[in-house]
Amino acid sequence: MVTRALFRAIPDSFTRAISRETPTEPIDVAKARAQHAAYRAAFGDARQVLVDADEACPDCVFVEDTAVVVGTKALITRPGAPSRQREPSAVAAALAPYLDLVTMEPPATLDGGDVMFANDRCYVGKSTRTNEAGIEMLGRLVGRERLVVVDLPPSVLHLKCVVSPLEGDQLALADESLSPDVFPGFEIVRIPVAETYAANIVALGGRLIVAEGYPRTLEALDRAGYDGGDLCEVPVSEVQKADGSLTCQSIRWS
Ligand code: GLY
Repeated sequence: MVTRALFRAIPDSFTRAISRETPTEPIDVAKARAQHAAYRAAFGDARQVLVDADEACPDCVFVEDTAVVVGTKALITRPGAPSRQREPSAVAAALAPYLDLVTMEPPATLDGGDVMFANDRCYVGKSTRTNEAGIEMLGRLVGRERLVVVDLPPSVLHLKCVVSPLEGDQLALADESLSPDVFPGFEIVRIPVAETYAANIVALGGRLIVAEGYPRTLEALDRAGYDGGDLCEVPVSEVQKADGSLTCQSIRWS
């Protein structure tokens, strides 16, 4: 159950956020801010913490990468992209009233988008952003026996770009991304390859926030037991231009 969520406002410099491919249309910051407001509204009753934007941090809206909540603690990460390494300090200050902070030190790097809690396990993607030392530090915090390391191909930015937890034992997993065998004991909800982006879903405890514009994903979720009333579609065109998705725009805890 998500009862609190932290977000960060979008700076004007968002037009310079990291993107692996130059978008055909430039980012429209006003539209991005409207979409961010729709995203926040989808959290309903959750108590919200909003951190100011930092113009020196074009990617700062993607707060999930800067902290991982483990029980009553928050691991303040050292993001793998050097241009993002000054993002965590403001997030840490905003989380400090709620959680005990543990701060990651060099040479460790870890992006929270690579960390997925599902049932009693903590999956972590070893990626271009998350290194061995970062995984080691996460393991110390969550308990090594719970940790499952998933090697990601360079084409996958973050673990949760292709898999995300739904309710109970269900995971949404993009077809042809990772083997379902990596996730034994879970019911896999298959997201078609053409809609891989939509495998990134925020589960709020009974309701799902999903990316707008992915009809086959809605059909797959319907077959998995989620009807329209359980789903909240939000627009994502502008964060998508910056390689962002849904989970990465919030830090969620209870
Ligand atoms: N633009 C999001 C990221 O590369 O981390």
